Amino acid sequence: MNLANKLAILGCGASMCCNVWSGEIKHLPEPAITGGMPLMDAINARASGRLYDKTKPVDDQTLSEILWVAWGVNTQGKRTIPTARNGQNMKLYMLTPTGTWLYNGAKNCLEKVNDKNLIPLTNTQEFVNDAPVHLLFVAKDDKWGRCHVGSAYQNVYLYATSKGLATVIRGLIDADALTAELGLTDGERVIAHQTVGWPER
Ligand SMILES: Cc1cc2nc3c(=O)[nH]c(=O)nc-3n(C[C@H](O)[C@H](O)[C@H](O)COP(=O)(O)O)c2cc1C
Repeated sequence: MNLANKLAILGCGASMCCNVWSGEIKHLPEPAITGGMPLMDAINARASGRLYDKTKPVDDQTLSEILWVAWGVNTQGKRTIPTARNGQNMKLYMLTPTGTWLYNGAKNCLEKVNDKNLIPLTNTQEFVNDAPVHLLFVAKDDKWGRCHVGSAYQNVYLYATSKGLATVIRGLIDADALTAELGLTDGERVIAHQTVGWPER
């Protein structure tokens, strides 16, 4: 069973090996960081996709690559997106029905931060329920925070295009409630939600 499914069904379990401040860590497979569709072809084919195949889960390898393109660390030791003054002050969460996970790009793992199902707070459109992967972008509510999120979600769009996945970035969410539920401080705010999945056939 793949990680997205495991996390959805179990939340945690024997495969979760060690503890962080409030939860468990799930190590991800190494992302494959070469190949894919030529960049210009991916840009040319990029589009939002809202119809997901509910029967086809996203495998761990693909999940690792989705997270890496959005907010990973590349072989130069740089983030996969630029940040103002190299602040690296974005956060990427993954929502599941059984808990919320924070992506740690440097360690290539997910850290569980709570046992809450926050997906309903993103869910003003019905197709959201069909998506197996829910990314939640958090950034400083300042001049540059939304720029960082834009860079990250565009990387996910291009990866999804290359891989044959469907994705859409979403602003129709209860950002205030999500920000409160995550206990964000220091000027951080939930900015956007992105669904990813295999397209409906
Ligand atoms: C900041 C932002 C917020 C968006 N919010 C939503 C949303 O809440 N729901 C949705 O279905 N699409 C959302 N979209 C996707 C746009 O509707 C979509 O990009 C637009 O219709 C153009 O379609 P395309 O991406 O296929 O070119 C959003 C796009 C952006 C850039």
